[in-house]
Amino acid sequence: MKRAHIVYCHPEPKSFVGAMAATARASLERTGWQVTISDLYAKQFNPVASVEDFGSRSNPEHLVYSLEQRHAREHGTLARDIVDELEPVLESELLVFAFPVFWFSVPAMLKGWFDRVLLSGTFYGGRRVYDRGGMAGRKAIVLTSLGGREHMFGPEAIHGDLTMGMLRHVMQGTLGYVGYEVYEPFVAFHVPYVTDDARRGLLTSLDEQITALDQRKLFQMPELGDFDEQFRPRVG
Ligand SMILES: Cc1cc2nc3c(=O)[nH]c(=O)nc-3n(C[C@H](O)[C@H](O)[C@H](O)COP(=O)(O)O)c2cc1C
Repeated sequence: MKRAHIVYCHPEPKSFVGAMAATARASLERTGWQVTISDLYAKQFNPVASVEDFGSRSNPEHLVYSLEQRHAREHGTLARDIVDELEPVLESELLVFAFPVFWFSVPAMLKGWFDRVLLSGTFYGGRRVYDRGGMAGRKAIVLTSLGGREHMFGPEAIHGDLTMGMLRHVMQGTLGYVGYEVYEPFVAFHVPYVTDDARRGLLTSLDEQITALDQRKLFQMPELGDFDEQFRPRVG
C-alpha cells in the first residue's frame, strides 16, 4: 500500500489547520493510502538544533551541524526524537505538511523540524539536490491557512506571489531542494474571519482536491542537467 505521512503543526487541536489535516488524512485513506501523522505540538517537538542532537561527534571541539548529522546517522547516535520523525518520512512516497502561515513563513516548531529532521547526507549533499536529491521521485504538498485575503497575493498584489514568493523557501529551498516533486499548495485564505459555512466549503474543496491529487499541478524545479559542476547554468 502507498504510504503518506502528514506533518501537522498547530498549537490548537480544534484549529482549522487541524481540520485540514484530518480531512486530508480521510481523503487519502479513502483513495488507498496508508497514512501516518506527526502532531508536532502534541508531542511538544523540540525545534532547536543543538549539540544535544548527537550522541557521538566527529569533531567534539567545533560543531558543524550538517557534518554531525551525517556522522550521527551513520553511527546510529542521532537523538531519539529525530529518528522517530525520520522513519515515517523515509518510508512515505507522499509527505504532507499542514500549518498556519506565521510571518510569511512556517511556525517556529516546523522550521525546527526542517532543521533537525531533513538530514544532510540523507536528504541532500554535494550534487544530490533537486532532481538528484535524496527524496527524488517522491511527492510533497503543503496545506496552509492565512489571515490574508486572496487578492493580497499575486504578482501585482501587496504581498507579492504566494507560492514561489512568500513560500519559496519551503517549496523550493526545502522540499524541492531535497528532491521532492512539489504540488501546488492548498491555501485557505482569511480563515479566522470567514463564516463556519465558508470554512466547511474550504474543507469540501480540500477533500475533492486531495482525492484528485494525481492530476494536480507540480512546480517546475531546477534540473541538475541544466547546470555545470559548479552549478553555473550550462550555455546553450
Ligand atoms: C505569529 C503569527 C503570525 C502570522 N503571520 C501571518 C502572515 O504573515 N500572513 C497572514 O496572512 N496571516 C498571518 N497570521 C494569521 C494566521 O495565518 C491565521 O490566523 C491562521 O492561519 C488561521 O488558521 P487557524 O484558524 O487554523 O489558526 C499570523 C498569525 C500569527 C499568530
